[in-house]
Amino acid sequence: MPKHPLVSRRRALLLGLGTLASMGTLGMGRSKYLSYQIEALDDPKRDFTAVGEASLKERAAAKGLIYGAAMRYPALLSDAKLANCFVRECGILVPEWGLKWYVPGVPLRPNPDKFDFTEADWMAQFAKTNSLLYRGHTLVWHESLPPWFKDTVNSQNAEQVLVKHIKTVAGRYAGKMHSWDVVNEAIATYEKRQDNLRKTPWLELLGPNYIDTAFRVAAETDPKALLVYNDFGLEYDTPEDEAKRTAVLKLLERLKSKGTPVQALGIQAHLLGGETRFNSKKLREFFSNVASMGLKILITELDVTDKNLPKNTAVRDRIVAASLEDYLAVALDEPAVIAVLTWGLSDRVTWLSDFQSRSDGAAVRPLPMDADLKPKLAWNAIARALDSAPKR
Ligand code: XIL
Repeated sequence: MPKHPLVSRRRALLLGLGTLASMGTLGMGRSKYLSYQIEALDDPKRDFTAVGEASLKERAAAKGLIYGAAMRYPALLSDAKLANCFVRECGILVPEWGLKWYVPGVPLRPNPDKFDFTEADWMAQFAKTNSLLYRGHTLVWHESLPPWFKDTVNSQNAEQVLVKHIKTVAGRYAGKMHSWDVVNEAIATYEKRQDNLRKTPWLELLGPNYIDTAFRVAAETDPKALLVYNDFGLEYDTPEDEAKRTAVLKLLERLKSKGTPVQALGIQAHLLGGETRFNSKKLREFFSNVASMGLKILITELDVTDKNLPKNTAVRDRIVAASLEDYLAVALDEPAVIAVLTWGLSDRVTWLSDFQSRSDGAAVRPLPMDADLKPKLAWNAIARALDSAPKR
């Protein structure tokens, strides 16, 4: 590597690889070039020191914030060490599966006439017993719909089915729920609709007003819960994310202009390790635009996909931590942000093991705690971001 006093190792590597690639002389394939380029993102000198022994829950509370995570019923039920770690680190619990319409196991909606609250009730009791806040995810989504849905629900009965679901499910926990993801992932700009709505069964059966109906019924059913519109793909300086941020803002403006009781935006924040198209100024502006509508903001499903990162876990963990700290530094600067939840707490249980597995077969490492429940640099990154956040 040419030694140049004005060019850091990382810059030199990026310049070097970029030059070689453009000259077409780079002997390695594109994926190896990308891997080298991503490895250049790693800064072995970056400091991730977190001061003190406080848990993430305590660090969040000290700033008037809430930190928590999603958890699966089977994991909490059977894994006492994970449950203890959860209670120590988290101030809010959201069922990863139990309040969706249908996830194999103990589905909430096994058939059109039945509600099975086994999971959701057990999780609600776990939260109460451990003085945790409880949040619901999600009343209306195009995924996790029951097998019976498509043959049972039609344009004549769809509104009645939707209203009954919300009244029954939100009604059961009325007054006990911190917040509900009332509608999840309703925007899809690639569908090229003028309103940028995703072509879901709900849209096809009820038209765009299904969103307003969901929020109005949820508000009538549980006036105490914070009612959230939740979505993903809002993080990066890419044409797709920029278009989605614009579309989500327009949706929120439309809902607010009609008096629809949406009270917060949930930003899933499934970050992409190695993604360099991150523009903190544009992202901060987006948070400000949401807050200027009088809405609160929750970071609802934070994790970092490491599938494109090098196998070396020290390098991977540093890049994941840097992604988290850089993102949260922007997010938590916005006073309207009230909570940060990761989508899982430990690498022991993460949806990314299936949804974003690594081609080299290595276990993914997207979350604050490793599979042995030891804090990783990702934990330090979240701790540091909470410690640096302005007090609410
Ligand atoms: C995911 C779960 O984590 C998986 O276990 C399940 O198989 C699919 O759904 N955005 C969301 C969450 O809003 O509900 C999704 O959860 C992850 C993406």
